[in-house]
Amino acid sequence: MYLNVLTQCIPAPLFEGMWRHPEDQSALGYRSLDYWVNMAQQLESACIDALFFADIHGVYDVYQDSPAPSIQHSVQVPAIDPVLVIPAAAAATRNLGFAVSYSTSYHAPYQCARLFSSLDHLTGGRIGWNIVTSDLRLAVGTGLAEQCPHDERYDRADEYLDLVVRLWEDSWEAGAVRHDAASDTFADPARVHRVDHAGRWYRMSAPHQCEPSPQRTPVLYQAGSSDRGLTFAARHAELVFVALSGFRQGRERVEDLRDRARRQGRDPEGLRILQGMCLILGEDAAQARARAEEYERFSSRGGLTAKWCGWTGLDLASYPAEAPLSDLPAGQMRSVTDFLRQAGAGRELTVGDLREHVATPRRPNPHARLMLFGTPEQVADRMEMWLERTKIDGFNLMPCPPTLGTRDLCELLVPELQRRGLARKSYDTAERTLRERYFGSGVTRYVRAAENNGGNRHGG
Ligand SMILES: Cc1cc2nc3c(=O)[nH]c(=O)nc-3n(C[C@H](O)[C@H](O)[C@H](O)COP(=O)(O)O)c2cc1C
Repeated sequence: MYLNVLTQCIPAPLFEGMWRHPEDQSALGYRSLDYWVNMAQQLESACIDALFFADIHGVYDVYQDSPAPSIQHSVQVPAIDPVLVIPAAAAATRNLGFAVSYSTSYHAPYQCARLFSSLDHLTGGRIGWNIVTSDLRLAVGTGLAEQCPHDERYDRADEYLDLVVRLWEDSWEAGAVRHDAASDTFADPARVHRVDHAGRWYRMSAPHQCEPSPQRTPVLYQAGSSDRGLTFAARHAELVFVALSGFRQGRERVEDLRDRARRQGRDPEGLRILQGMCLILGEDAAQARARAEEYERFSSRGGLTAKWCGWTGLDLASYPAEAPLSDLPAGQMRSVTDFLRQAGAGRELTVGDLREHVATPRRPNPHARLMLFGTPEQVADRMEMWLERTKIDGFNLMPCPPTLGTRDLCELLVPELQRRGLARKSYDTAERTLRERYFGSGVTRYVRAAENNGGNRHGG
């Protein structure tokens, strides 16, 4: 199975308030190279496939109609740019892959192509790009982008992808770089082509600025969950992050994704699907319980509320606590209200109930949604069930608390998975690039959907 670890260059990624854990180092570490280099080396010693950096632009300001709660409780702020961390972490490792979120809404395609070619060169072919179209509400005040309807963002991203892939794949022919000192020819201009494009959103007429990197196109990751997002993933992505809520729904979602890929003319088995899960681990049952208690103690109620409001766009502070839930716009929160209705046993639910639910960390238990909790044996059992029942290819793990959780993932969980033959014990030296790690030795190049005839995804 494939194992990625998800992080972000912020204090206590994903777990608002956990930076307060006395042994957590992320509050200072997130802005130091030593912290990231150590983490990368630790993950490499456990043969993890890739370290994945999430990233957003802007500060959540929906709750209390202000950025203040996010700033106070550190809700994805302060945040440094993860792209700058990657070359340093790559220099200190040889095999670990790196992937990073980068938005099609904030950066021109030409700039994106150059950045990822640079990262692919500097990491020796170990880079992946998590393609995000971004929540533009966040960015309105930053001046980075205008509001744009959700599905149109994906239409624009389709054009963006076609363009950057042409820069990576078509601009510089193989053999264009000559290094011929006698004829003063670094590269042969006849083999370097302009990419000419005049589309609905983008125009370009220029050759790519970088010579071909080991993978040319970075490994393409995607994490959309809407219908439009899934179609986008099926068309472009090689690796998809999912957040499956259970086995049955998960199996259907996995089959649906592979089916969508098939309809795009791609080999459905050429898609790697990774389930995102929080990980709260203890060496034994008592330590797991202690970690769960710490999680409940240090989670920030204000931080959880500010994040929820930012994600849904709904300011829970703007309604009286006794207002019935039916006063709120439906839509974004159907699953939460369904959940509360079940728990509320028929009583009329209020905004106060919702606020309490949102601010309360979910109690860790072995069956909690999107969470792996327990001893290494219990967690490995659960992972095996996920693999068997949903046919995912692996996991994108989010250790909690970040510093201790990452250490325990490497020192406790991975050895258990290795004992069961589920995790690699060493990197395969024949797999030189991140793409080869996921798809096998020799598979170095990205293949566009249009290049497939429905069969051999990486053929030719
Ligand atoms: C594991 C995972 C990681 C994600 N990382 C980011 C990220 O770093 N930056 C971002 O803007 N969105 C991120 N997202 C959000 C998705 O890219 C996407 O915008 C969101 O799931 C909504 O998709 P949809 O609009 O297709 O429903 C992530 C989602 C998941 C499940």
